Amino acid sequence: MDLRLSVAAPDAFDVSTPTRGRLLVTDLEVLTVTPTSAIISWVTHAARLGRVIPQPIAVGTEMAIGPVGGPMQLVHDDPTPRVYHVVEITGLEPGRTYQFRASSGGKPAMAALRPTRIVGGCERTRQFTTLTVPDGRYLTTVAVANDIHIGERRQGIVLGGLPTSVTPRPDQADYAHMMGVSALNQLATRHGRPLLITNGDITYDNSPEQNAIARELLDSYGSQNQDWVATRGNHDHPRRDDDPFGDYFVGYQQAQAVQETSGLRILAMDSTRGSGGGWITPSQYEQVTAELDSDPDRPTLAATHHPVTTDAAWSSPSGPQFMLRGRDRLKLQLIERQAPGVFLHLAGHTHRMRRNRADLADTNTRYLENAACAAYPGGYTLIHLFEGGYLVNFWRLSDPAALSWIYRSRWQSLGIGAHLMLGSTADRNHRVDVDLSGLTPSGRPVPDELVC
Ligand SMILES: [Fe+2]
Ligand SMILES: [Fe+2]
Repeated sequence: MDLRLSVAAPDAFDVSTPTRGRLLVTDLEVLTVTPTSAIISWVTHAARLGRVIPQPIAVGTEMAIGPVGGPMQLVHDDPTPRVYHVVEITGLEPGRTYQFRASSGGKPAMAALRPTRIVGGCERTRQFTTLTVPDGRYLTTVAVANDIHIGERRQGIVLGGLPTSVTPRPDQADYAHMMGVSALNQLATRHGRPLLITNGDITYDNSPEQNAIARELLDSYGSQNQDWVATRGNHDHPRRDDDPFGDYFVGYQQAQAVQETSGLRILAMDSTRGSGGGWITPSQYEQVTAELDSDPDRPTLAATHHPVTTDAAWSSPSGPQFMLRGRDRLKLQLIERQAPGVFLHLAGHTHRMRRNRADLADTNTRYLENAACAAYPGGYTLIHLFEGGYLVNFWRLSDPAALSWIYRSRWQSLGIGAHLMLGSTADRNHRVDVDLSGLTPSGRPVPDELVC
């Protein structure tokens, strides 16, 4: 077994005060699984003992791995004290099941979050299976990041002084911007700057200042509607007298169609109505249907900030009133069913990673809710397109400042939020077979993790 690995070194935690208490090695996550690699993470801290955020404890990192049925090999044993332990194992074989043992200070890392404790879950069995690459030639990669929330000051449900939201440490006051910068840097340096869909809630409350910062950030990544596409989220809703988001990005209830180098169409729509739920106006439906009717078979990625399935609406703890209204959910799905090229519809808003069940049985469109960038789980998703289908991979931000904030924001909503947002390993990493042979290779190099 020829395994190579890299380890993120998140040591930017305030652990100057020695923490007493029992060491918990917990929140084990098989976060990212590609055809040739896996990223496994966990944290170490003391018992919460009534605290909103438990005291971190920095200890070493150990990881052993091997194919199921074979011996495990200690591939990593690093005594450097860390709180967020992130191990990336590369050099794996596609479609193979591996077993692993993750530990710190000799104690095994335990699955704690609800989606990691389900029967058969990767964190519970301590096994995962690498993905396989879809058939045909590699075409391109598109990224999606949503809920950046530039200007936000607290993460979670803000209920006065109640500890339902997490306040950043003073050095993290600008966490939303920090996370946005970190995401764009990682997309540029690690993933070759794919076309990025920033799918709503780009600002906190659509102020001119927040929009100026967001625009500057995205301009540093590339050109609008060439390197990135922005949709509006409920936080970016027009204000009483003005609409800075409209001035900086795109007008209210305007649909946008952008063609990527491979020929892929991005259909970015505005699903916002007010501060929570959403709608689509008749004039935007006209734009959407005219665009799809002009080329119904063109492989198309659709995006709205709000999820558009009943499954999403009724499974969200915020309830259906926080969602796109019922008639628009159905109407949009019907329109997408009539355009067979629409193979995937991306949404944000719920800050969770979740594959949806479509309302219509015979549709070509899959529906995916993507987790937030601004806070736990803290990352973005890559969609790798091949002639025979696509791969979905969620990536967490890896720089120390980002991980330090992800450690803290994991405790939003009294610690309950993380259980609802992480999703399963398969929600974050999966392959879908669908005919995308109408596209042509974009010329982008095949990402390292897809080279088998
Ligand atoms: Fe949001
Ligand atoms: Fe939202």
